[in-house]
Amino acid sequence: MATGRNVMRAVRVSEFGGPEVLKLLSDVLLPNPKENQVLIKVHACGVNPVETYIRSGTHARKPALPYTPGTDVAGVIEAVGEHVTVFKKGDRVFTNGTISGGYADYTVAAADTVFPLSDKLDFKQGAAIGIPYFTAYRALFQKGHAKPGETVLVHGASGGVGIAACQIARAYGLKVLGTAGTEEGMNIVLRNGAHKMFNHREADYVDKIKEFSDVRGVDVIIEMLANVNLATDLQLLSPGGRVMIVGSRGPIEINPRDTMMKESSIIGVSLFCATKKLMHECETALLAGIEAGWLKPVVGPEYPLEKVAKAHEHLINSSGALGKMVLLI
Ligand SMILES: NC(=O)c1ccc[n+]([C@@H]2O[C@H](COP(=O)([O-])OP(=O)(O)OC[C@H]3O[C@@H](n4cnc5c(N)ncnc54)[C@H](OP(=O)(O)O)[C@@H]3O)[C@@H](O)[C@H]2O)c1
Repeated sequence: MATGRNVMRAVRVSEFGGPEVLKLLSDVLLPNPKENQVLIKVHACGVNPVETYIRSGTHARKPALPYTPGTDVAGVIEAVGEHVTVFKKGDRVFTNGTISGGYADYTVAAADTVFPLSDKLDFKQGAAIGIPYFTAYRALFQKGHAKPGETVLVHGASGGVGIAACQIARAYGLKVLGTAGTEEGMNIVLRNGAHKMFNHREADYVDKIKEFSDVRGVDVIIEMLANVNLATDLQLLSPGGRVMIVGSRGPIEINPRDTMMKESSIIGVSLFCATKKLMHECETALLAGIEAGWLKPVVGPEYPLEKVAKAHEHLINSSGALGKMVLLI
């Protein structure tokens, strides 16, 4: 084995349940990169809400047990499988598609889901790109068909996907409105693409958005908590406006009539539905953003691998997001 050791630390889930089912083991066999795969020494791994839903067993996708969670890592190439020519040992990389799981010392990924990590970004920032930025790009353009000059409301802008959406939308010439639940969160987003922020904990914030967006309304809403906001979102749209459902944690009642007057659309977004071609489109745009300097992930809470259960608990229960949560490996 290229590392000279054949076991590593990795978080394993052997049954679905609460954060306590995340067990850190120190004798997990190192994965072996097969044809067209690479082995990455993980330095940081992004923690995404979907990993908490999958772990709890309530998500439509249920991996075979036991498994190691985590898809978005940044680190250094340790070894390459057959036919891999674009990477070599020692290269700094990030990926949004680990195969063996990212909450681990080492992980394997298909070479075509691995990208060079620019010197402009550290490993924590590299681990914060994956699902959040690809989802934000897909929601804005592939599903929401946002255009320069349009107004977007990022409803829940202070977390991983929200900050990504604000940076991308600003770079593409949209007018960017956002919401967060704290002053600190609002200020971070203002420094990361938003022209104007509102506090979604204030009782009258929807009226303030209406007032700010004038009679016309907003063209696209990137919605992180549809079960709370969808009904009021429909009041905020411009004619032909689109609500993009990125996050939702339960049901909500809406009046379908509210979509008729302005021919509004409610569109679900799932990164898992993106074809290889569309993922490649996201990747091209995002790598260009890193090169141009506008794509700069904001890292929020950091947890060592040993505290993974605490990290999951924090992510799902806390309010007042200040960027993307990462595990340090
Ligand atoms: N569809 C997909 O393919 C896809 C992909 C990635 C993520 N998601 C989903 O998208 C959601 C956001 O993901 P994330 O990684 O950005 O999570 P995150 O980092 O935990 O951020 C959560 C965001 O939701 C905001 N929020 C809290 N209460 C809100 C409210 N009443 N109205 C609007 N926003 C509110 C938070 O703001 P404060 O903390 O400042 O209050 C924060 O900005 C999650 O539900 C996740 O599962 C879906």
